[in-house]
Amino acid sequence: MIDGKKVLFSGMQATGNLTLGNYLGALKNWVGLADDYECFYCVVDEHSITVRQDPATLRKRSRALLILYIAAGIDPKKNCIYYQSHVSAHAELAWILNCYTYMGEMNRMTQFKDKSAKHADNINVGLFSYPVLMAADILLYQTDLVPVGNDQLQHLEICRDIAERFNNIYGDVFTIPEPYIGKVGARIMSLQNPEKKMSKSDENPNASVYLMDDRDTVIRKFRRAVTDSEGQILYRDEQPGIRNLIDIYCACTGKTKEAALREFDGRGYGDLKSAVGETVADLLTPLQARCAELTRDKEYIDGIIKDNAEKASYFAGKTLRKVQRKIGFPDRVR
Ligand code: TRP
Repeated sequence: MIDGKKVLFSGMQATGNLTLGNYLGALKNWVGLADDYECFYCVVDEHSITVRQDPATLRKRSRALLILYIAAGIDPKKNCIYYQSHVSAHAELAWILNCYTYMGEMNRMTQFKDKSAKHADNINVGLFSYPVLMAADILLYQTDLVPVGNDQLQHLEICRDIAERFNNIYGDVFTIPEPYIGKVGARIMSLQNPEKKMSKSDENPNASVYLMDDRDTVIRKFRRAVTDSEGQILYRDEQPGIRNLIDIYCACTGKTKEAALREFDGRGYGDLKSAVGETVADLLTPLQARCAELTRDKEYIDGIIKDNAEKASYFAGKTLRKVQRKIGFPDRVR
């Protein structure tokens, strides 16, 4: 708890180009949570280097992601939006927690198995202990709630295990975090294979709509979206492509599924694809303009970066010092 509010923490990597799925499934739903929770939104650049990165690109994308958070409507005065690498407590607590985590636990992580298959030439120790750094992120702020997608639930579970193990030895040091089940973000699927989640690393550029795609590109990608040969606009498992288009439409407009189905009743797939394409383009155009505007305001963004790094360091430092004291590191001499 901070000032009587529960703490909510989430992080995103700045690798790859963010997609409509990232926006509708996560970012968009984070706007407005600040009234109810003390929110920390972290650009997790330390996680990004578990896969080799081009330095200039990483730096550029990290800043673009931080700006995107703000452009999406997350108020950086009420929410702590910051870079992981600016708060050294993350790396320090991760080291300590490494010593309270078993090889066997990390070996079971499905993301590690997937990523080490994908990057067989660079299976580094950081990639292996990635979930421990993530646990440090969460535990440093005495986090109550973590909004995560299904793919990160296993990591949140291990975070809870590590925290409970630590608390069992040293007393109540960490708050045990729960997954945040709020207004669930839409699960946006690939436009080319609607059985698969839309991904920023998809090789087919038509499969994902990127947040920075221009209007024509967005509309063209929707026009090419894979559907089916049923010919009727219904919301059901047999028509995953159509269902995805309806989901996207509803997530953008706030309309219910029923209202959307009524609207498109009796119309053709071409109509639906154009309507959804236009709707998405209408949503992205102002977002892109706001990103461009914020990007030009270097002084403002730099101020946010500095102030929020200080705020995060303050809270993280409190937890880190408590941990250090508990495990027997010597007190600082003042
Ligand atoms: N691993 C998360 C992902 O790839 C990103 C992340 C890092 C995160 N630290 C976190 C998410 C802490 C939630 C909480 O999506």
